[in-house]
Amino acid sequence: MNLEYIDMSTEKEKLMLEYPQESLEFNLLKKVESTISHKDDMYAGNVAHYFKVGLSAIQCIDSSISNIENPKINNILDMPCGYGRVLRFLCRRFPNANLTGMDIDENGIDFCTHTFGVKVIHSKKKLDLLTLGSKFDLIWCGSLLTHIETIFAVDLLHFFDRHLSVGGLLIFSSHGNSVCEDIKDGKKTYGLDEGGVSQLIRSYAESGYGYANYPGQADYGISVTSAEWLRGQFNKIQGWKEVYCKERGWDNHQDIFCILKNF
Ligand SMILES: C[S@@+](CC[C@H](N)C(=O)[O-])C[C@H]1O[C@@H](n2cnc3c(N)ncnc32)[C@H](O)[C@@H]1O
Repeated sequence: MNLEYIDMSTEKEKLMLEYPQESLEFNLLKKVESTISHKDDMYAGNVAHYFKVGLSAIQCIDSSISNIENPKINNILDMPCGYGRVLRFLCRRFPNANLTGMDIDENGIDFCTHTFGVKVIHSKKKLDLLTLGSKFDLIWCGSLLTHIETIFAVDLLHFFDRHLSVGGLLIFSSHGNSVCEDIKDGKKTYGLDEGGVSQLIRSYAESGYGYANYPGQADYGISVTSAEWLRGQFNKIQGWKEVYCKERGWDNHQDIFCILKNF
């Protein structure tokens, strides 16, 4: 178990000064855990950005919830939770809810359970046969669909369907058309090599779901997904209703979709 961390409380306090004292952002920042795991790949050296991504996720969730009458949020799943970039904010935004973090990275879930005191579940690569013993009123999925091949993406959506309560919300992020344009324009490669970039652009044009593995990796890379492709999948799952969508809604980068499970 590797629980080494860096304490970022000074940087976090500096960031708080950017927000009015009565704002939700200020108050969440004041309360959230300030340690970041040494192993967290989502921390790239910019503490303010790391915390702002968490705040932005909460804004996406609040905007989604505002479309629902009488939301009841008692059980929350953050999958993939990684090392808690968003989970730390969920703990503070929903202090009375039962929170579960789930990830395939054992160090990540160890860090989350020790640091935030939440229940954690070790995930599997193949989700088609995985069924947990519980259902959730809110599932947050930040940046997993963005890394997986079409077949795994379909399994992921069905996994979420099996674990959503009736009346529950699934909020997830995807790389949308604007990310594909950035890759086409050569502004970004997202870690793909030249062959990967071509493959991703070609498959996106063909089907609306573009994907390529990271160099040297199998079954893990970068995906770009059109809204039409996603809506085609939503229509195949009984009881799903799209209640919110925002292009580049998360951190002005990934698209956000919110599904209500009606029955
Ligand atoms: C880009 S990171 C995002 C982590 C977190 N949501 C955040 O915003 O900091 C993607 C995460 O997906 C996890 N992951 C990959 N495949 C998974 C699977 N089958 N089940 C659960 N987590 C998975 C990785 O371990 C990694 O933590």
